[in-house]
Amino acid sequence: MTNPAALRQEILRLTREYSRQVHGGFRPAADPERNPWQEGTTIPYAGRVFTEDEVEAAVSSTLDFWLTLGKEGEAFQQELAAFLGVRHSLLVNSGSSANLIAISALTSPKLPAARRIKPGDEVITVAAGFPTTVAPIVQVGAVPVFIDADPITGNASCEQLEAAYSPGKTKAVMMAHALGNPFDLATTLAFCRKYNLWLVEDNCDALGCSYSMPRELAESLSFSEHSPGHNEDPDRVVRWTGTWDDLSTQSFYPPHHLTMGEGGAVNIVRDQKLKVIAESFRDWGRDCWCPSGIDNTCNKRFGWQLGELPAGYDHKYTYSHLGYNLKPLDPQAAIGRVQLRRLPQFIEARKQNWETLRRGLAAHEDVLEFALPTHATGWDPDRGFSWDDTGCRTDCSWFGFKIAVKPTAPFSRTELAQELDHHKIGNRMLFGGNLLRQPAFVQLRQDRPEALRVMGEMTGSDEIMNSTLFLGTFPGLTQAMLNQEIKVIADFLRVQTESCSVASSMGSGLH
Ligand SMILES: Cc1ncc(COP(=O)(O)O)c(C=O)c1O
Repeated sequence: MTNPAALRQEILRLTREYSRQVHGGFRPAADPERNPWQEGTTIPYAGRVFTEDEVEAAVSSTLDFWLTLGKEGEAFQQELAAFLGVRHSLLVNSGSSANLIAISALTSPKLPAARRIKPGDEVITVAAGFPTTVAPIVQVGAVPVFIDADPITGNASCEQLEAAYSPGKTKAVMMAHALGNPFDLATTLAFCRKYNLWLVEDNCDALGCSYSMPRELAESLSFSEHSPGHNEDPDRVVRWTGTWDDLSTQSFYPPHHLTMGEGGAVNIVRDQKLKVIAESFRDWGRDCWCPSGIDNTCNKRFGWQLGELPAGYDHKYTYSHLGYNLKPLDPQAAIGRVQLRRLPQFIEARKQNWETLRRGLAAHEDVLEFALPTHATGWDPDRGFSWDDTGCRTDCSWFGFKIAVKPTAPFSRTELAQELDHHKIGNRMLFGGNLLRQPAFVQLRQDRPEALRVMGEMTGSDEIMNSTLFLGTFPGLTQAMLNQEIKVIADFLRVQTESCSVASSMGSGLH
């Protein structure tokens, strides 16, 4: 009989061989062994990018059959936290769960009474984007206060924060960095500091994006440290998004910067207390913080008296929060660890793919409006971005390549999307567009008008909803795929413009 170690080795060897044979189309675009793209086949907007390393990690962890979050999960949490330079990262089963836990943590009675989010308190958020950035605010009994979004950056119009503030009611700001474009952190952090508010950065689409500001400004906001991996420029502070204030969240669903299938994380930037609370919400609401399979970490398992329980009631079964169970499985974490090692290349590939599309489509600025990073005022092919005079800068590892169809264009956004679809080019709208127009939020407003507050007309969010789509930038896109995207758009625009000029010359003949 073959011994188990040898058997395992053989299984993993065969796993690698199988994966090499059947998954060649999923390798990073830069990998020489990647299957070339065949003209006429689909160009996805996003998807899993992996090799036999991820498949081996999944199978190896599955052979262990520990299943629930264990050593791989623990290692992933530490490695992600080290990459970001945050105190803790807590693995959960999705980005949506991460958002739910982050905001739930801020409701904990273990926090100072004046800062804790209580039912009816307000959390400022943005109208355009993904629904589960906002839904958890409602789910914890707080009131989302919507500010508008800027159609060029896709991000919150942070100049509206002041007007949205309600003394005694506003407790937090929770917003996403849209499509990998950091929102105006300098303005947001100054606002949060002024009123002593929590900040939750929904970093689900922005792992690997960074934001920098002049040192003097950073120090006035209590930052002096660079995130790991950033150059020590003495005049500036550069940090990853997701590391600027209290809490942030990640998604590891396949379109995101790294994947483990389903998955997400809550990053706890500094405060150990928030880690214990967030973990409690993730793990059934329990008061005990022992890892799975371990007892008595606190050394007084039978020494507590909490709530109205009898003295000495088992700490393992003591619940201080109305929690959930939102943990992923250990094999997911094993996959994630391999992906984490690829993250620096993935981050760069997204930047390069955005740049390739931007250059390739630069001739079409008459009808298409391209995204600008927050704080940029323009882009040109020789000098790149020009910047506003705040001294703040963004460095985007783009989740997608955002295109808006200008109102003067002789075609609509939907027609462009249909053309891309016809050529099997993956494209998406900016998620839910103006969320307030989604059926779920319309219903909420009808059922409970007091459940949300809206800061005026959401014209920017409407514009995003009506005129924007995005293409992929993910690291699986090869140069041939990007060239095809550029060509299809150029051909479509040429036909549209020609038929428009024929129509107008016919028109001028008639009149
Ligand atoms: C900004 C943002 N937040 C949260 C989520 C939710 O992540 P998940 O799909 O892992 O629940 C997404 C999903 O794409 C997202 O784009």
